[in-house]
Amino acid sequence: MRVLITGAAGYVGRYFARHWQTDDELILGDIHPDQNDPRFIPLDITDPTQTRAAMQNIDAVIHLAKQADEGPMEGDDLNGKRFDVNVKGTFNLLQAAHEAGVKRFIFTSTVMTVLGYQAPQWVESDAAPLPVGSYALTKQLCEVMCAHYAREFGMSIVCLRIPKPVDLEHPLWKTHPLRPQWVPFPDLMQAYQKSLTAEVAGCEVITIVGESSQRRWDLSKAQRILGYQPTVIPEELGFQMGSEDQPIPPESTYA
Ligand SMILES: NC(=O)c1ccc[n+]([C@@H]2O[C@H](COP(=O)([O-])OP(=O)(O)OC[C@H]3O[C@@H](n4cnc5c(N)ncnc54)[C@H](O)[C@@H]3O)[C@@H](O)[C@H]2O)c1
Repeated sequence: MRVLITGAAGYVGRYFARHWQTDDELILGDIHPDQNDPRFIPLDITDPTQTRAAMQNIDAVIHLAKQADEGPMEGDDLNGKRFDVNVKGTFNLLQAAHEAGVKRFIFTSTVMTVLGYQAPQWVESDAAPLPVGSYALTKQLCEVMCAHYAREFGMSIVCLRIPKPVDLEHPLWKTHPLRPQWVPFPDLMQAYQKSLTAEVAGCEVITIVGESSQRRWDLSKAQRILGYQPTVIPEELGFQMGSEDQPIPPESTYA
């Protein structure tokens, strides 16, 4: 399968690019392509022409790109960029994928779309959105667009609501507690790989979180539709588990 990954130079994309190991051919798109990796193409998803060109002969899309500038969650400047990249960029990709006849589109959403359900409430895999903050709002709007493209044009789309993926090999996690919802990278990658081939008609919203004794997000839809099974349980491996809003050390953005 020829798979276009957007935002491939970012935290998640870099992990996928290094660890994918299937027969899939990865085409790595990013506005800041890694010049040392020949699989990269320059791709600005806010540009419909570039987006259309990148979609030629692509079987599936893994859409990771997001507005990556750090800043206050609700700053106006940041909100402008966020809506451009996250919402308009996703619209450009959906439209280009539809025109090119792409068979599977995986949109990366976030558990922040349902952060409004406070502990200890149980959160269904595809719970109605209750976003907190404009970043989560842009992701909710993208989920709405995905459902629209599936309904109007018969596209097959998986929206994965994910938390922070965590690299348990990183030394930081030997001394800092994890949030229970964080998902170890190997299981996140499992969810994306299964999302490429699972039988999905229309658009499905599916939550993927880490397995722990504190889990309050439903994984049964992921199991049923994707055949997803968590394989790495940090608690059982001796990692310290904190609370859901455990302070995150600043150096953890890429850990
Ligand atoms: N990392 C997390 O904690 C987390 C949690 C939940 C959901 N997510 C979602 O997972 C996905 C990947 O996250 P990440 O941590 O790798 O993000 P990241 O910020 O590390 O990477 C985003 C990438 O998108 C690229 N990008 C920005 N604007 C672009 C544009 N106009 N065109 C093309 N590429 C552009 C950036 O250059 C960057 O490489 C995102 O959609 C994010 O919302 C991440």
